[in-house]
Amino acid sequence: MTNPYTPNAGAEPQAVVGRDDQLESFDLLLARIEAGRTEQSMIITGLRGVGKTVLLGQFRTKALARDWVVVELEVSKNDEADFRRDISSRLRTALFQLSPKAKWTDRFRHAAAVLKSFTVSVDSAGTWSAGLDVEAAEGFADHADLALDLTDVLLAVGEAASERDRGVVLLFDEVQFLNKEQLEAVIEALHKMVQRKLPITMVGAGLPQIAELAGDAKSYAERLFKFPAIGMLASGDAREALARPAMDEGIEYHEAALTTAVELTGGYPYFLQELGYAVWTVAEGPTIHEDDVRAAVPGYETKLDESFFRVRLDRATELQRAYLRAMAQLGPEPQKASVVAEAMGPERSSENLGPTRAELINMGLLYTPEHGYAAFTVPHFDRFILRAIPELVVPPLKRRPRRKNPD
Ligand SMILES: Nc1ncnc2c1ncn2[C@@H]1O[C@H](COP(=O)(O)OP(=O)(O)O)[C@@H](O)[C@H]1O
Ligand SMILES: [Mg+2]
Repeated sequence: MTNPYTPNAGAEPQAVVGRDDQLESFDLLLARIEAGRTEQSMIITGLRGVGKTVLLGQFRTKALARDWVVVELEVSKNDEADFRRDISSRLRTALFQLSPKAKWTDRFRHAAAVLKSFTVSVDSAGTWSAGLDVEAAEGFADHADLALDLTDVLLAVGEAASERDRGVVLLFDEVQFLNKEQLEAVIEALHKMVQRKLPITMVGAGLPQIAELAGDAKSYAERLFKFPAIGMLASGDAREALARPAMDEGIEYHEAALTTAVELTGGYPYFLQELGYAVWTVAEGPTIHEDDVRAAVPGYETKLDESFFRVRLDRATELQRAYLRAMAQLGPEPQKASVVAEAMGPERSSENLGPTRAELINMGLLYTPEHGYAAFTVPHFDRFILRAIPELVVPPLKRRPRRKNPD
């Protein structure tokens, strides 16, 4: 029997549980746009491993079933040229999905020409617009301003889609990696779609700080988007996430086994999959007992430590590790910068540690749930750090060479 659990990033679980609200909101969003109305779009927020990418995958399936064109993009830290390339290559595909080239009308040819303009500044050879067979549309998407240019592109594609009575949904994953300019551009362009009632929308997913980043970017971001947070599964859902895949294979979980498993994992989807997977490997009978769950724990923890947790710590410098260690010993809750600094000894202050904290945020290890506080982006990371770094060792302060008096 193959193991029915899916402990991999983005892997669609056999049972997608506990996400009915978000799935319903998504249906509603598409239905309203189809009816020519406007609706607040959404950016799903949550820690690593809670199922954001899986949820976007569910949205994709739903959108395709309603005959929408889906544009998927996993944002990475990249420069403007890469961003333009990624967007344009995907929107080019979207244009072809909206209509085969043989049937293109003027609107489609115009959209293609605007797309070409969009990349011309960063791709003079025209490789990214290959197959469009158009000249760049002068005066469109060539303002050397990402927000203006992206707005032109979405307007043109939106009008083409509207002509075919189809919608286009952009599904952006890891949106916290959009830089300020990119985020502002996306928000501004989408704002225009809403104003013009064009059938393009964007649904995103990212780490929790995105709500704050978006708020900073443009005050109307809050009107454009809801920021539903997803996290650990409620106990009943967590039990189902484990029991259902087993049931499908004719294996039953004992109630006490489920209770223990939910306790161990805190109901976090990724941890549930990883534990389910480990239990499946050790269990023998047609019923899974609490003992089987307990027996799976060492394998489960080793796997988590070595894959999920460790990779995040491996990239950290000595000082960054010390910062994480200090935070971990303070507990799993968000921690105040000044309190972490204090835990790091008399030599360190929160100003002095500001850059370290910023680096950790930038690396995606920490986020700021509210001003002055930082928290781990990975559930149970504090426990891991305490296991992985048994002692807090703060590297000595590197003093800057003292500047001589000017006179
Ligand atoms: N609703 C769910 N029910 C059960 N398991 C889930 C659910 N959503 C995600 N998972 C599992 O959790 C893990 C993490 O999912 P993923 O979407 O990659 O999380 P994120 O993108 O938030 O980091 C995967 O192993 C996936 O199979
Ligand atoms: Mg993800």
